[in-house]
Amino acid sequence: MDHTNSSAIALRVNGETCSLTVDNRTTLLDALREHLDLTGTKKGCDQGQCGACTVLIDGRRANSCLQLAVAVEGRAVTTIEGMADGDRLHPVQQAFLDRDGYQCGYCTPGQICSAVAVIEEHAAGWPSAATADVRPEAGPPRLDDEEIRERMSGNLCRCGAYVSIVRAVADAAGTHAGHGADHSADHGVPADESTKVTA
Ligand code: FES
Ligand code: FES
Repeated sequence: MDHTNSSAIALRVNGETCSLTVDNRTTLLDALREHLDLTGTKKGCDQGQCGACTVLIDGRRANSCLQLAVAVEGRAVTTIEGMADGDRLHPVQQAFLDRDGYQCGYCTPGQICSAVAVIEEHAAGWPSAATADVRPEAGPPRLDDEEIRERMSGNLCRCGAYVSIVRAVADAAGTHAGHGADHSADHGVPADESTKVTA
């Protein structure tokens, strides 16, 4: 490797410090997959459009294909491999299982990382483009289906599992964030509607 174009860095991934030498142009996504063998994070478009590569950086979601590995040195990176607590799944992982929030599963790690951050963002009172009243005195918006779809709209699913994904996020928000979830999606949605809904 040409050391004028490479850097020795230490990444903090899922609570562990990993030392590696990377070409300065290496994305965080490629560092995770190709250098650290953390292949749970998926590459879809490699240009910030699909969300398959979503991870958490210091607790906030980010497309790892748009981050240079050298730029995240010292920051806390969480991937899908770091979500569970030992054998105990993260509540969002459990909700995706319970609700069949996937088909092929390729987008699922990114969906789950994004959903974890969505629930935190909502609990912190962050509005979205779907929030009707963004005045501080209006309080946090209800995390209804429209809010979930808007907040998850950066994560595409080629299989069209969106109805189940929305249900999973609503379930997890109800148990994890503890307030604001709208479980109306539990009722009256025919199974064949799943192909008609987009994020
Ligand atoms: Fe990063 Fe598609 S692979 S957004
Ligand atoms: Fe196949 Fe989403 S489950 S792309």
